[in-house]
Order: sequence, then structure tokens, then C-alpha cells
Amino acid sequence: MSRGNTVVPLTRPQKRRQGRFGEFDVAVPLARGGTAGVYLGTNTETGGRVALKVLDPQFAGCADVVERLYAEHELASRTRHPGLLEIREARETADGLPYLVMEYLEGEALGALSERVDLELGMIVAITAQVASALAALHAVGVIHCDVKHDNVLVLDEQIGAWPRVKVIDFGVSRLVDAPPDPRATIAGTPWCMAPEQWTGTPSTASDVYALGCLLYELTTGAPPFDGSLPELMFAHMEQRPARPSWLRFMPIQLERVILRSLAKDPADRPTMAEVATELGDLMDVYTPAVTKCA
Ligand SMILES: Nc1ncnc2c1ncn2[C@@H]1O[C@H](COP(=O)(O)OP(=O)(O)O)[C@@H](O)[C@H]1O
Ligand SMILES: [Mg+2]
Repeated sequence: MSRGNTVVPLTRPQKRRQGRFGEFDVAVPLARGGTAGVYLGTNTETGGRVALKVLDPQFAGCADVVERLYAEHELASRTRHPGLLEIREARETADGLPYLVMEYLEGEALGALSERVDLELGMIVAITAQVASALAALHAVGVIHCDVKHDNVLVLDEQIGAWPRVKVIDFGVSRLVDAPPDPRATIAGTPWCMAPEQWTGTPSTASDVYALGCLLYELTTGAPPFDGSLPELMFAHMEQRPARPSWLRFMPIQLERVILRSLAKDPADRPTMAEVATELGDLMDVYTPAVTKCA
């Protein structure tokens, strides 16, 4: 199965949106998603920059898709954390096209970065520790991200100490822990990182832990725990044990343990996201140069 990303760089000029969105001038497309485009917006008075996620016009009349875009704002606004993208407002244009006003992040998606360079273990731990701590904050307010993967993690140009700052983005399929079952809901997520219970449409915060385990597995070993066609992937996530990551790359036992525990088939056997954040945070100390720790 091709591992195409859900987002591709915007290359089709006819899809560009240009013009004014409230106080923002839009000229530069940043990326395309399945139902929306992301654009750089510049405040015409202050010059301040934002990212605008603008629904593709063909979906403007599609209530489910519009609702999802507004839910993205509502769920992301339940907490603030330095590792979570800030979605400031949900609005619509005069002709009824919904869009989100978000903080503009300068950096590179983790997927692109990890394809471009071989990430050292210290960097992988530093990145995923921040992701875990951001997701733990989201879980603390009852929100499940539901689509944790390398394309939804941005590695920013900004540093914290020796490491780059990262942010988790894309609350497009997120949901509340106690959301009532939705008969219209389809299985949401990305097949290489979907926990057994997510395949059956019953995700929990533990599903995000599983997805982060898959991400860690892929970042460290170079391949996801399972690959294959959609049915093969479903079977593997539900029934098969992945190869031990330390067979594929030398790594500290603590790191392998957190990866394998996160990939437990039974959600009850996985650590919480807060525990993963603590364990990765402790491991980070091993990798952080002493000079940075003292600073
Ligand atoms: N706030 C932002 N600042 C800069 N780029 C962003 C921002 N939000 C999204 N992007 C870019 O747009 C892409 C698509 O956004 P995302 O929210 O992940 O949409 P989708 O649900 O379609 O995957 C991201 O992978 C990222 O490259
Ligand atoms: Mg995305």
C-alpha cells in the first residue's frame, strides 16, 4: 500500500485562494488537505502573520464537513499548551465559506524532516517527549486527537535549549472522550498508526498512545511496526506482534520498553500519555548535553 500523506504540497494553481479574509491578505498557499487548504495570511494593518485553514468551496454546503471544521476550533480551544497549535477563531467569509484563523508556524513537518535526514535518537526522544506532553494536556481536558502521525507534528525553526520546539497540529478528526456514539462517524485516523480499538470505531486516549508508539517505532527503526494492504494492516494491528525495535536499531532498553508498552493490543495495558511524557522526558536527560542542562 502506498504511504501517501493525506496532505500534499499545493501545486495546482486553480486551487489557490487569493484575496482578503477579514483583516488578512492571503497570497501564499502553504499546503492542501483533503477538504481545506492552508494559507499564509498577513494582517493588512500590523503585518502580523497567521495561518488560515479555508474550506474548499465544494464542501461549503456539506454540513458534516463544515461541522468538523468548527469542531476543530472548539476542541483545540479547550486547553492551551506550548506544544499544541493555537486555533484562534473559526469564522466565515461574507459568501459563507468557513475558515480557521490559526497561529502561523514556521518549520517542517516531522514526516518530511525524517525522510530528509536520519534523526539521531536524542532528537527523536526530544521531539516525541514534547508531543507526548502536548497530547497529555489535550487528554487532561477530555480530548482525543485521533490522528497522531508524523505529518501532524511540526518541527519549528525555534529551539528550546539543544532541541527544536515542536507542535502537534490538525484536530480535524479529534473527538471528546465522552462523545456519544455517532452513527455517521467513519473510522478516522491513518492505517499505519491505528490502534486495534480505533479500527472498530471506539477510540480512547490510549489510541493516541498507540499511535505515538507507532510513530516512535518508525522514527527509530525507519519503518512502521506493520505495513501492507488495508486488510493486512488491520489484521496486523489487531493480532500481530511487531518485531522488537532493538533488533532493528540499537537503543536504550527504557526506550524500547516505552515503545512496546505503547503498542499493547489491550488499551488497558498501555501507559497513559502523561506516563509516556515522563518516561521520554527522563530519557531526554540522557541525551541533553550537560552544558544545555546547566543553562
Ligand atoms: N498553523 C500552521 N502554520 C503553518 N503550517 C500549517 C499550519 N497548520 C497546518 N499547516 C500545514 O498545512 C498542512 C495541513 O494542515 P492540517 O491541519 O494537518 O490539515 P489536514 O487535516 O488536511 O491534514 C500541515 O501538514 C502543515 O504542513
Ligand atoms: Mg494533517
